[in-house]
Amino acid sequence: MNPGKGAFPDHWPDSDLSGTRWRPSTPLLITIDGPAGAGKTTVSRRLAHILGYRYVDTGALYRGVAFAALEAGIPPDDDAKLAALCANLELKFEKNLDGTRLLINGRDITEALRTPEIAMAASTASARPSVRTYLLALQRHMGKDRCAVFEGRDMGTVVFPDADVKFFLDADPHTRAVRRFKEMRHPEGMTLEEMEAEIRKRDEADTRRALAPLKPASEAVRIDSSGLTEDQVVQRMLEYIRTKTGA
Ligand code: DC
Repeated sequence: MNPGKGAFPDHWPDSDLSGTRWRPSTPLLITIDGPAGAGKTTVSRRLAHILGYRYVDTGALYRGVAFAALEAGIPPDDDAKLAALCANLELKFEKNLDGTRLLINGRDITEALRTPEIAMAASTASARPSVRTYLLALQRHMGKDRCAVFEGRDMGTVVFPDADVKFFLDADPHTRAVRRFKEMRHPEGMTLEEMEAEIRKRDEADTRRALAPLKPASEAVRIDSSGLTEDQVVQRMLEYIRTKTGA
């Protein structure tokens, strides 16, 4: 059901919405926040595709920093070393026939990002001020022309408090663990129970950290995707956007 992240093309033969296109009359910046496995990636991509908007997976940026840190032998909680690392880091999304790729200093590292090790290191690095400051500026630059769907944890609260439309997508931890388990390329070596434990641990770290913790913006529309298909979630979002923009 879930096409996974990064290396997959932006089309969905399984979706009733695959032929749907609608361009809002004013350029919107849309944020979708929520915990791991809530369905943000697929839903954000489909929504962006329907609207003809850019899709930005900000978790991939945190994973990119974590990847670069681990490769350089920098502990993902060492703020000073992370700051020096970020000063010389160029993170860029590029589209090719395989979908959206993440490049660090010109090197395609997309395939290396989806491991439990990188996920935990990204969660740790994402609590460091140097990393958040670096990515805050980069994300705002990416959103300067609007017409984009940004997916993350603090999009509606910190990075784009002036976003036109804000969603907070959630699901119960078991449902999220099952989704992540199916989506992982190499689930060998990790049981579903371990996956659920890892998700709960990351939720805890992401929600409790002092800087930009995971929480819904006060005006965010909250959607629980536990019992919903991806199409149903996207339909709800589209309906909300249509109503809000008077379309
Ligand atoms: O969505 P993801 O699993 O790829 O995110 C990886 C980590 O990055 C996650 O543990 C929290 C962090 N993150 C963040 O702090 N802020 C964001 N906007 C996106 C991700």
